[in-house]
Amino acid sequence: MSSSFGNLFRISTFGESHGKGVGVVVDGCPAGLKIGEAEIQAELDRRRPGQSKLTTPRKEADAVEVYSGLFEGRTTGTPIGMLVANTDQRSHDYGDMVDLYRPSHADFTYDLKYGFRDYRGGGRASARETIGRVAAGAIARKILKEVCGTEILAYVSQVGGIDANLDPLSATFKMVEANPVRCADAAAAIKMAAAIDAARKSQDSLGGVIQLVVKNPPKGIGEPVFHRCEAELARAFLSLPATKGFEIGSGFAGTRLKGSEHNDPFVNKSGKSKGKGKQQTVQSASPLEAIGTSSNRSGGVQGGITNGEPILCRIAFKPTATISLPQQTVDKQAKARTLAAKGRHDPCVLPRAVVIVEAMAALTLVDLFLEQRARAGLFPISKLQQASEIADRQGVSSKGKKWKREDAYDR
Ligand SMILES: Cc1cc2nc3c(=O)[nH]c(=O)nc-3n(C[C@H](O)[C@H](O)[C@H](O)COP(=O)(O)O)c2cc1C
Repeated sequence: MSSSFGNLFRISTFGESHGKGVGVVVDGCPAGLKIGEAEIQAELDRRRPGQSKLTTPRKEADAVEVYSGLFEGRTTGTPIGMLVANTDQRSHDYGDMVDLYRPSHADFTYDLKYGFRDYRGGGRASARETIGRVAAGAIARKILKEVCGTEILAYVSQVGGIDANLDPLSATFKMVEANPVRCADAAAAIKMAAAIDAARKSQDSLGGVIQLVVKNPPKGIGEPVFHRCEAELARAFLSLPATKGFEIGSGFAGTRLKGSEHNDPFVNKSGKSKGKGKQQTVQSASPLEAIGTSSNRSGGVQGGITNGEPILCRIAFKPTATISLPQQTVDKQAKARTLAAKGRHDPCVLPRAVVIVEAMAALTLVDLFLEQRARAGLFPISKLQQASEIADRQGVSSKGKKWKREDAYDR
């Protein structure tokens, strides 16, 4: 069972729902990043259970302890070990699940694969595993913010049949955190909250969609073939429990348009404010810097590579599998049984999944960014870039030199 993710910024999560604790080891985090436990804790607090009646009532402080890799408020470049203790386990609630398989949960497939499983609280299949991802994601997010000015925000855009109605680019952290659903549309949030509460009261559950918006992403990251940026994002999001779908940009709806309607026209965006960000690019100081698109049906990725426009994705989450309504199932002997599940469960996983989606976006993008940084610039693709690097080394500024189109492929 592999529990690691990422190449250069590599995380390994560990722990089960009712074990002693859950956590993560982050290997490959660059040294010198200013970050404190409080920043990591702030993200974990957004993921924590028991936040409202819309989430599981399990009471966990989810207090992070950083064991290594941070010193005097900075990363040291050594593995960062982080642990969160489990304190509110009620394993007796899971007595039925020793022999019974919860419909659409992981009980049956774990037995099929391993022949043995920690059934308490869902064991490793519990969303408590995602604590490690969120703690590591807080560090990844800080790197992207510091180096590229990247802003990563997600919100609940659909619960059951209720849709949020707003431009994703207009969503702010304040709007998202203003209600327990984490929906950036306040009017829709009220309807969503009522629907989740009704599902909870009727011992049922609801699913929905999370919208991700990444503003000021690093430009030029992602590989053209197997490790396309959208492929890496899809893998990251679909590695989350309860996910059922991924779309980027126009997604499935785009299939209904003609090419002339769907294409994103290129425009010169020089002079237009790009916000506070300091986007990193493969080719700094070239005219390519000024080029953007006037629409963004590509969702910020073309040819597998980020083009600098916001990355827009949607991730579908199914209704929570464990519900108290009686369900048809079988036991380990394949004998037909009925299960009315006990235990404390999220009537809808979406409000807590928002922060986990943000964390996976940060982990994916920081890894692709570090890979790009490791390769780019070794053989500069413009003379100006080459000249500026030499000038920088010699302490001579190359500002004011005119970049010529033919320089781009001539080295
Ligand atoms: C934030 C979050 C909270 C979740 N809470 C529950 C829960 O309370 N009960 C449950 O049965 N599943 C919950 N899940 C989903 C299960 O972990 C998931 O269904 C299970 O691992 C099986 O995987 P699959 O649904 O991807 O097939 C949650 C998922 C997330 C992302």
